[in-house]
Amino acid sequence: MTSIPRDQWYVAAYGAEIGQELFSRTVCGEPILFWRTRGGQVTAVADRCVHRRFPLSQAPSRLVDDQVVCGYHGFTYGTDGKCVSVPGQSRIPRTARLRSYPLVEQDSFVWVFIGDPAKADSSRIPRAPYLDSPGYTTVAGMEPLKARFSLLVDNLLDLSHETYLHGRYIGTPEVAATPITTEVDEEAGIVYVSRHMDDAECPPFYAESTGLQGRISRWQDIEYTPPCLYKLHSRIAPVGSVVRPDGTDPDAFHVEVVYAITPETEHSTHDFWAVARDFALDDEEVSKFLAENNRTVVLQDVEALDVLERVIATEPEGYQELSVNIDTGGLAARRMLQRMAGAGRTHAGTS
Ligand code: FES
Ligand SMILES: [Fe+2]
Repeated sequence: MTSIPRDQWYVAAYGAEIGQELFSRTVCGEPILFWRTRGGQVTAVADRCVHRRFPLSQAPSRLVDDQVVCGYHGFTYGTDGKCVSVPGQSRIPRTARLRSYPLVEQDSFVWVFIGDPAKADSSRIPRAPYLDSPGYTTVAGMEPLKARFSLLVDNLLDLSHETYLHGRYIGTPEVAATPITTEVDEEAGIVYVSRHMDDAECPPFYAESTGLQGRISRWQDIEYTPPCLYKLHSRIAPVGSVVRPDGTDPDAFHVEVVYAITPETEHSTHDFWAVARDFALDDEEVSKFLAENNRTVVLQDVEALDVLERVIATEPEGYQELSVNIDTGGLAARRMLQRMAGAGRTHAGTS
């Protein structure tokens, strides 16, 4: 785990994925077992029995009254990971405890802290309130990526690729042609990349969902909080319409595109995506269209990034990329991620 920052919060799942049954997902190389207790809390412990490492998510392991019983020899654990029963003896070894992960359920996501639990400060988890608030309707999904997470970070911070990779969906010539502005807030740990197109073609993704005809004003304002949460604030409006002095923006359609970028392993990633809109809130057709279209777009990225991962795996040492203006945000993000990963390594080396 060299390039993955530890001592960080990552999205492990949508809250809706976890019910009162065993659910497993690997985050940063660590297999984690989740379930929702009868009281509604989500619990996260290591998905390996301390006895002979049988996965506790694997049948015939099972949940009995909020305790997980290992399907191999019956070691039994509580929600805090502590072993409460061992077959054939009454004494329970002091070390019979599954690692338990700090966990927060917020904005429709289940966040876990990977690394030193003493450093888990839940106030540092970035927010995406629209995913779980009444003024928005959200469609969401997750696609597995067979590529390192930094390739997805690169991809999302440089949307000029929309013009080429997503041509008949969300890309138009103006996206690649319009220069970006980039800002980095080192203190808050956020990279901002903006592209404002004042007179642009409306791509099918927005024409179909908003009903706007003709050319549009299209803003893309990216806010990335490394390592995990990426937000694209997208504003679509008729050409010439402006935000009012009081901050209201009644002629515009707002779409919040959120990605949670969670490393599964060094070379694979969970690509969580969500699209929240502030219009046509009850329109099932619009929801269906946006869900299908966004998934198609995400899969176009997945296909391209899976190819890149294979290319990188077979290339000779020392390949030099060439970066240009469009890469400014991606390069800033890489520097932040490298610093975060470096800090984790120093910690690992000294503890
Ligand atoms: S491996 Fe779980 S009880 Fe033996
Ligand atoms: Fe893309």
